[in-house]
Amino acid sequence: MDLKGRNFLTLKDFSPEEIEYLLDLAEELKEKKKKGIPVDIYRGKNVALIFEKTSTRTRCSFEVAAHDLGMGTTYLEPASSQIGKKESIADTARVLGRIYEGIEYRGYGQEIVEELARYAGVPVWNGLTNEYHPTQMLADLLTIREHYGRLKGIRLVYMGDARYNMGNSLMIACSKMGLDFVACAPEKYFPNGELVDQCRKYAEASGSSITLTEDVSEGTRGADVVYTDVWVSMGEPDEVWEERIRDLSPYRVTKEIMENAGPEAIFLHCLPSFHDLKTKIGLEMGQRFGITEMEVTDEVFESARSKVFDEAENRMHTIKAVMAATLGE
Ligand code: CP
Ligand code: NVA
Repeated sequence: MDLKGRNFLTLKDFSPEEIEYLLDLAEELKEKKKKGIPVDIYRGKNVALIFEKTSTRTRCSFEVAAHDLGMGTTYLEPASSQIGKKESIADTARVLGRIYEGIEYRGYGQEIVEELARYAGVPVWNGLTNEYHPTQMLADLLTIREHYGRLKGIRLVYMGDARYNMGNSLMIACSKMGLDFVACAPEKYFPNGELVDQCRKYAEASGSSITLTEDVSEGTRGADVVYTDVWVSMGEPDEVWEERIRDLSPYRVTKEIMENAGPEAIFLHCLPSFHDLKTKIGLEMGQRFGITEMEVTDEVFESARSKVFDEAENRMHTIKAVMAATLGE
């Protein structure tokens, strides 16, 4: 399998075999890390990490993974670069492409990371856009595979705003890899029809299915993986909180939902999560709307079924696999 020089912008661009190859590589790199076997095959190379939105996991994963591979990193935070303000994406891409061997971008529209990739001349990796979060998908698939020993036939239900990066990406990842995908949300939060149609074709090829339902009991029944995400994503205005809390509260992941899912079901979340009042925003919304938890109850988040920290760790191993596979020699 040769992915050298490829961009990593969305899983739509990758075949199931290529995705499986990246998962296998991540598993191998994880094992080597645990055994202390060095993998610094890219000594002397450098990568640029552009973050127009904040991050804990993705930034740390790219930095540690790059360092483990022997590379240097430069972190460009929203306020410290010229991007978009004094310099166009195309110009930025051509400058960074002369200095770095690879570029990560986290930000707003997918068209921005696509433009960056068009002009950079080196691999560009999508660290999250409004539309997609492909590196998160590899971590999620690896976590599910580690837990169940397979991907095919697993039923994953996504609860919440299924029209945004996480819902879209999970639907793509599941349909490509043979997992049955269920979006469980009010109809206005269903993924867009064009993407659903495209994923139905992937599902047909992989022998899986896509279900969109408003019915919590039906949607979660017998699920192997119950997945949720924050109700308001980065970059969205504060004004949407009230509507989201009203619309999505029936889709909060609770103990009852986990029981309905099945005795072996696991809980996943890309994180960060509002499962208590220990964050500034969680506390503010708690006081404004009289709630103590949002997309998932603290009970489920802290339960043995919750694999969110295995999932978070896997961000690093899978991001390392993406860089290792796509960087040139
Ligand atoms: N899941 C995820 O992308 O986390 P960060 O926003 O902390 O990078
Ligand atoms: N939907 C979330 C995902 C965070 C990893 C956001 O875009 O903020």
